[in-house]
This record gives sequence, structure tokens and C-alpha cells, in this order.
Amino acid sequence: MSEIEERLRKLREEGLYRRMRMVAGPQGPSVMLDGRRVLLLCSNNYLGFADHPRVRRAAAEAAMRYGVGAGASRLVSGNMTLHRRLEERLADFERMDRCVLFGSGYLANTGVIAAMAQRGEVVFSDALNHASIIDGCRLAHAETFVYDHLDTDHLEWGLREAGERGSLIVTDGVFSMDGHVAPLVEIVELAHRYDARILVDEAHATGALGPEGRGSVAAAGLEGEVDVIIGTLGKALGGYGAYACSDAQTATYLVNSARTLIFSTGPPPPSVAAALAALELLRSEPRQVERLQRNARLLRDTLADEGFRLSAGDTQIVPLVVGRPEIALALCERALARGVFAQAIRPPTVPPGTARLRLAAMATHTPRELVWAGQQLAAAAREVGAEPAASQPGDAELFLYDAELDEPSLERAA
Ligand SMILES: Cc1ncc(COP(=O)(O)O)c(C=O)c1O
Repeated sequence: MSEIEERLRKLREEGLYRRMRMVAGPQGPSVMLDGRRVLLLCSNNYLGFADHPRVRRAAAEAAMRYGVGAGASRLVSGNMTLHRRLEERLADFERMDRCVLFGSGYLANTGVIAAMAQRGEVVFSDALNHASIIDGCRLAHAETFVYDHLDTDHLEWGLREAGERGSLIVTDGVFSMDGHVAPLVEIVELAHRYDARILVDEAHATGALGPEGRGSVAAAGLEGEVDVIIGTLGKALGGYGAYACSDAQTATYLVNSARTLIFSTGPPPPSVAAALAALELLRSEPRQVERLQRNARLLRDTLADEGFRLSAGDTQIVPLVVGRPEIALALCERALARGVFAQAIRPPTVPPGTARLRLAAMATHTPRELVWAGQQLAAAAREVGAEPAASQPGDAELFLYDAELDEPSLERAA
């Protein structure tokens, strides 16, 4: 048996083997999955912009007018008027001075964190931050202090220990696998007290939280209090790409030092035009954000009525934590057989022992679909012998994170 074969065998044995499912046609509230129409309950296309006619048209027209690629890094010949226009609109949207586009959220987080945190400094990272933040911390030459999930006492302890070396606090605004909202008011207060900068990743908050869907920073009334806002164009905005908003000096610094920007081709014109159209839609149709929030509440209420134990919260991300990977896989398959697609999420995306279905409501689901989905999920849970009442409401408290570790201890992925 080759070494790679052996590694794959081990993944299968541990219930951690992955394969890609196949969607035919566009990303709507229901999709053709492996040849069958199913309700889609695990997509980040929260507002339905990925297949919105105006967004599609904008991308198609940009392809005809500007072509399909930037042809080079933006620091060589790949910087186009469209890039600049989107950066201006995004800076305006985030109420920040400047914006720099990146190829994706993964590239933005890795590039920005690695650029900002210098050797000899300490970065403070929530234990359940996304893998792209973890990898940014790994790429940075700084040390990383991983604080317990949402635990600002632990964060303060780390800031105090780090003293002058403390440089940057990084957190998801809405946590991708749990739907929790970061305690930003406390984090800002600590950052002021200990003279640290703050980076908030709004990947799952843009379009979902705050006035006009402007995210968790705006929702907390903290505009102007955060140093860097990372956003992705690939979730509520429906396309692909990402951005970092900051003051003008930091933006100039990122252009000069973020390796994932400098050494990568500029975002393709159709994606940039799609994001411009999606941003315009978000501004002109704020009701879509309200619809998402209403659907999130309905999904949570329905699941609670069906007996699932959920952690507190009201965002569109709703984890059904079942524990072992095999149970999550079995539940996923049973739900699929009943017409509901909610992918099983297993370690290392989530901590060991907290495998789950990560459900995500969309603004484009009908109330009837969500109620029906809750019923199917409860029936599927009973079929695999995992009564809804056995689901775990939260997960962070199950795990001990080693405060002494200077390396992030958990991997998280999309
Ligand atoms: C919190 C968070 N940040 C960043 C990313 C990466 O964004 P992108 O998909 O644009 O690479 C994700 C993707 O799942 C995410 O959940």
C-alpha cells in the first residue's frame, strides 16, 4: 500500500474521508444535486445573489467589454478601472477610507495577517476563527495566542502577558461553523486599553447583520473603531473575490507587503462587475437582508420545536452538533434521501467531537420550505438513532484550548 493510499485509508476509517458532490445548474434555494432536486440548506449564497439576473447580466457584460481576466498581478499590468471602482464602492459601504481587493477571503486573511503581524509581536486569535485566519497567523512571523472562543477574559489575560509585544486581535465577526457573533464591544475596549489593532472578518456577517447588511461591526455601532475589515465577495454577495478595508496608510502598506495580493493575478473583470452589481442590489433591496434574518429565526424556531437543542443566537448559521463524524455523515445521507441537503462538517473543520450539520438559511427560501426542512431533519435524526434532543447546544465549552500554545490549535475550513 502506498503512503498516500494509507493516509486515505486512515481518513476513511476515522469517518473523515471527503468527496465533492456535484451540482448541475445554478445555485438557487434548491439545486440539482447528483441528479436530484433537493432543498439547499448549506450554502453561503445567503441573499440569492449568486444566480440573480442582474448580477449575472453584469458579469456577462463585463466579460464582453473587458474580457475574462486581468492578465497579471495588479502590481504589474492587471490593475483595471473596474477594480478601482469596486474598491471605492466597498470602502464607502464599509465606511472606511480605503479598500484593497484580493482574490478570495482565504487570500485576504492569509495575506493581510501575515503582512501586519511582525516578528517579535503577538497576534491574538479566537479559538474558532476560520482556517484562513489560522493560516495567516501561521504565515506571519509573529507568535499567536489562541484565546478561548468568545472569552474576552482569556483574551485580556493574553494581552496582559504579551505586554508591549501585543499587536493584533483577529476574529470572525460571525463564526462560520457556529453562527456566534464576536463580542466586538469588549474586544474594542480591550484593544484600546492594551494598544492593539483589530481585524474583523465579516465573511458571514456582510449582507446578514447590521444596518443595510453592513456586518457585525456596524451592527455593534463600532464603525471607525476597527483597524481592518475583511469581507468576501463569495458569500452573501454571491460571486468570488474578497477585500480588506482600512485607513489609507494601512491600505498602501498592504499593497506593498501582502504577498497574496502582490504575487497573484488580479480578480477577473466578470467577478468584479458581479460584485458591483451585488453591492448595488444590497443597497437597493435592504428587504432581502430582513428576509434572511426572518428565515434564520424561522429555521431556528422550527428546529427547536422539533426538539433540537441549539446554542443561543439568531444568525443564519445554525449548527446541529451531533458529535461523532459517522453520525454526522449518516444524518446527512438520511436528510438527503428526504430531499434536504445539509453537508456534514467534521474535524478538522470543527473541533474533534463536534461533527455537525451546519445549516444555513437563505433569504430565498420560502417559510414553508424551512418548516418542511426542519421536519425532515428531525425525522432523519430519529432514523439514524440520534434523537434531536441528543444534539449538543454548544461546543466551545467541550474543549480545552492550551493557552500556552503559540500556534493555533485548530483547523477550520469552509
Ligand atoms: C470566516 C471566513 N473567512 C474567510 C473565508 C474564506 O473566504 P473565501 O471563500 O472568499 O475564500 C471563509 C470561507 O468559508 C470564512 O468562513
